[in-house]
Order: sequence, then structure tokens, then C-alpha cells
Amino acid sequence: MSLTENDPVARRRTFAIISHPDAGKTTLTEKLLLFGGAIQLAGEVRAKANRRQTRSDWMDIERQRGISVVTSVMTFEHAGCVFNLLDTPGHEDFSEDTYRTLSAVDSAVMVIDAARGIESRTRKLFEVCRLRDIPIVTFINKLDRETRDPFDLLDEIEKVLALDTAPMTWPIGRGRAFAGTYDLARNMIRKLDSDVTAPMTPVDGPRDPVIRALLPAHEADAAIDELELARDACRPFDEQAYLEGHLTPVFFGSALRTFGVADLINALATFAPPPKGLQAESRFVEAHEKKMSGFVFKIQANMDPNHRDRIAFMRVSSGRLTRGMKAKLVRTGKPMALNAPQFFFAQERALAEEAYPGDVVGIPNHGTLRIGDTLTEGEDLVFRGVPSFAPEILRRVKLTDAMKAKKLREALQQMAEEGVVQTFVPYDGSGAMVGVVGALQLDVLAERLQAEYGLPVSFEPSRFEICRWVTGEATELNKFLAAYPSSTASDLDGAPVFLATSAFTLRYEQERWPSITFSDIKDYQ
Ligand code: G4P
Repeated sequence: MSLTENDPVARRRTFAIISHPDAGKTTLTEKLLLFGGAIQLAGEVRAKANRRQTRSDWMDIERQRGISVVTSVMTFEHAGCVFNLLDTPGHEDFSEDTYRTLSAVDSAVMVIDAARGIESRTRKLFEVCRLRDIPIVTFINKLDRETRDPFDLLDEIEKVLALDTAPMTWPIGRGRAFAGTYDLARNMIRKLDSDVTAPMTPVDGPRDPVIRALLPAHEADAAIDELELARDACRPFDEQAYLEGHLTPVFFGSALRTFGVADLINALATFAPPPKGLQAESRFVEAHEKKMSGFVFKIQANMDPNHRDRIAFMRVSSGRLTRGMKAKLVRTGKPMALNAPQFFFAQERALAEEAYPGDVVGIPNHGTLRIGDTLTEGEDLVFRGVPSFAPEILRRVKLTDAMKAKKLREALQQMAEEGVVQTFVPYDGSGAMVGVVGALQLDVLAERLQAEYGLPVSFEPSRFEICRWVTGEATELNKFLAAYPSSTASDLDGAPVFLATSAFTLRYEQERWPSITFSDIKDYQ
């Protein structure tokens, strides 16, 4: 019996995949689920996404544009571990959601297209992982195609991301000659066309004739020299450095050919961290503590037309959640019965009878829960770390029917609580503004205001371009706010922001007010 068998926390691996669009995240997700037996057929993730697009009426926009704006959670088991894969929306306009999802994982898999290397979105997402030192396993994908030199790719990771690399496997041949991978530490090979679950073949180093036989004669010498160089010159894997987020183990493979996926999942089972404790404002909460606690990192309304409700996604951080238990919502101090917590399997859901640290449950509610909320068995814990990002686009909402102003205020408040948009009310009493990270969020907002509240709206440009949360010593801060009543506002939680018309104005004010901190990230609560 393994050590972890009776310990539900040690068995959990909660992770996300970070990548640039098209690097192969969807394909890899399918293959991982296939390993876990969570779905029977490869392609099902995509097939389901398509089906949802044709049957869903919850958001026309999703159908029209053929993109997924829903973050889902997928749970599967493999090698004695329970994996929770938190999927993130593919479209970059929803990066804010993606960032929040990253606050709920213990590790990440970074997928890189072997021909393209590090791309912009990967870099952005990586930076968010770095804020929390999230350990990252790298999967260099599409080895079945023409690729860049693997040494170059590792060099790029090291230079661009300032992250040490330790290749665990190395490609044998490249492009059309790609024949498999060599396990650098264990002297074993995995052949490209072997059964995906077959064990690796032991070899006697890179010069073993078995390897030469896999390669076209004119490429064999160069490929074997390269293997030898990789084995002798690359940095060995250091588990501690990985866990601290300073080093990434690198695997080469092809998600499409289900190649290298077994190495990846075994690596996650072997050394990806199980849920660890979480820092609350008052104290550190260990995952193994008896009492349940958890935090909400995402709210989704009307996920499924058959269940017209609002689902709060909560990550359990300690203890054991059982169906029917009474929890306390710390923000309001009110009790809340968890009568119908749900698990998600790809796009399906099932009632969760119990959940452990690392698990994500969906809690149906009618607007009681907000992003950043903490639920406990009674203790007043507040978890930090579900961030809000300064919007990059600010707009005034224009209502065609002025009689509905009050309804609009309520609707915007709800949308802000869900994290669809941010709202800012200027201190001088002028009309509220909405802020989004990506333009598509505005379309989603308009669509939902119309569909769910019967409010036809349009957006007017605002003279402000930049929004920063301002903090500082109370008297100084009040002086600052009083000096700029028409370019300061309060957000949903009453926190003050400074609105600047240009980067120049922002810099100017920052220099004039050195005691005020202007920040583009704000923790919830
Ligand atoms: P994403 O979620 O990161 O955006 O990427 P996705 O998995 O959708 O993959 C993007 C494209 O790359 C898809 O091709 C997919 O089949 C292909 N792909 C993924 N992994 C591999 C791989 O290991 N090798 C090769 N050669 N291709 C791979 P597509 O033509 O855009 O879509 P489809 O028509 O195949 O669905």
C-alpha cells in the first residue's frame, strides 16, 4: 500500500495548463482525460464543446463566435492520484478569469509549440504563476512536425522566463525523422509508435544500436551526438528547485499522437505538489486541518440552460466538505447550507458527497457568494490571493431607456460581483463606469444585460484610459482623493482608484504624490 493511499490530500493534484492559443492545450487535455478514463473517446472535449455551442442558449455570443468563455473543472484519476484540471478560457480577452483560476491551482503545465517557442500569452500567464511561485512542468508539443532546435527552446525558456530548465526526456530525431524520446536520467527510450501505456525500453546509453536503428542513416550520427550532449551537459532535475518555482522539468512529445503524455502525467503524480496550506489574514491554514475552509475564485451565471442558477466555484483549502454541511460565509457572518455542492466532469456535473483540499466544487446560489469569499466551519478566516486586475478599457454605460437607471445599477452590481466587469463610481457623483480587461467582455456584458435584465445598452468612450488602485496612509490618501474628485472613484468594494487620461498623467501624479501607491493589481476582499 502506498503512503498516500489513505491520505486524500496527498493524492490530490490540482493544476492548470498555460499556453498560447494553438499550442495544443485542448488536445493535451483530451489525452490527459483519456489516461484518467474520465472520457472514453479522444475528441470528446471538443465534441462536447461543439454540442454545447449548438444547444446552449445561455450566451448567444459564445455560439456566434465559436469560442468558449466558460472555465470548467475536470477531475480524473490516474496512478493513485486524483487530478483536478482547472481549464481556462482560450480567448485572451478572458485573461482575468484565467488569472483567477491560477489562484486556485497548486501547479501548472506549460505547453509550448516546438516550432514557435515562448509566445506572448504563455509569457503573461507564466508571470502570474511566478507571482505565486507556482511549480511548472513544461511540455514541448508537436514534436511530430518540424521543430526548432531543442537546445534553443530550452535557452529561450531560461532567458525569456528566467526559469532554469531540466530536460527529462530528449527527442530522438526531429520532424519527419522524429522516432521517440530518450529518458536522460534513466537511460530508457520510448518509441513513437509504441502503445501509449507500454513501458519504456532500457538502452545502453545514446550509442546503443537500438537508437541508431530508429534513425535515418544520414541523420543518425548528429542525433546521437545531440543525445549525448543533452545527457552530459544539461542541468539535472532538482525537485526542490521545481517546487520553489525556480526550475522546470521539460518533456518533449506530441499531444496529437498521445506521445509523451504518459511521461507528463506520471511526472505530475510523482512530484507535482499536493495541496498545501494557505495563508489567511489571521494565520496559516494547513490543508490537513480537520475543519473545512475554502475560497471562491470564480462565479458563473446561467452555465447550463437546464440549471438556471449562479454557480460559485470554490476550492476547498482544508478539512473535508460534506454535502449538507453548514458553512459560514465569513464576509457576512451568515450561515450557508451546502446542500448541493457539485463536481464537474468535463461539461457534465454530479452532486459532490464529499470533497477534500484541492478539489473544486460548484455551489449553486442566488447571488450570495462573491469572488474572493471564504467559507468555513465557523472561524473568521479570510484568504487573500484572488486578484483583480486593473481594467484596460473604461466605458460609460449608456441606457436607451433612462427610466431603468436603478435597474441598471443593480444589474451592474451583480455583474461586478460575478467578476464579469468592474464598476467604478466617481467621487464627484458623475455616472458609473465599467472597466474590462478585454473588449469581448463588453459584448458579453451588453448581451447579458439585454438577455437577463431586459436592458438595452451601448457604451460611450470615457476620457480615462488608465485605472490604478490607490493606497497610502489615511490622511495622505484623503488629501489625494479630495484633490481629484473627478478623476477618482470607488470600486465595487469601496476601494479608491485613480483614473488617468494617459500614461503621462499617471506618471506625473505618481511623482507628485510619492507617498501614494498606485497599483494595477488588487487582492479581493
Ligand atoms: P489550443 O487548445 O492550445 O488552442 O490548441 P489545440 O489543442 O486546439 O491545437 C491546435 C492545433 O494544433 C490543432 O490543429 C491540433 O490538432 C494541432 N495539434 C495539437 N497537438 C499537436 C501535435 O502534437 N502535433 C501536431 N502535428 N498537431 C498538433 P487544427 O488543425 O487547428 O485543429 P483540428 O482541425 O485538428 O481540430
